[in-house]
Amino acid sequence: MAGQFVRLGEKERVRVTIEVDGMALEALAGDTLMVALLTHGKRLRLSEFGDGPRAGFCLMGACQDCWVWTSSGEKLRACSTVVSPGLKLVTSLPEAAWPHLIS
Ligand code: FES
Repeated sequence: MAGQFVRLGEKERVRVTIEVDGMALEALAGDTLMVALLTHGKRLRLSEFGDGPRAGFCLMGACQDCWVWTSSGEKLRACSTVVSPGLKLVTSLPEAAWPHLIS
């Protein structure tokens, strides 16, 4: 699938592998999670409120439309978090994060 973002430059940076929904995904060192995800697909996540796929909005840490989660339930802003080798993400709210919605 073509990505929402197209990488035009800096293609020679060190490659970093992360895991997204159980699948290996290759990014480049220094990429934000948003760049890593949207160069491979059209969405960042599924909304926890049931209103479908989301791909971020402001791209600068203000709108909170780009949350993704670690497999342990930690929320990360995709637009302002940089990839790290071995990072494991899920793109829909994991059960481990449900108590945060209730409290
Ligand atoms: S896209 Fe708005 S906070 Fe990340």
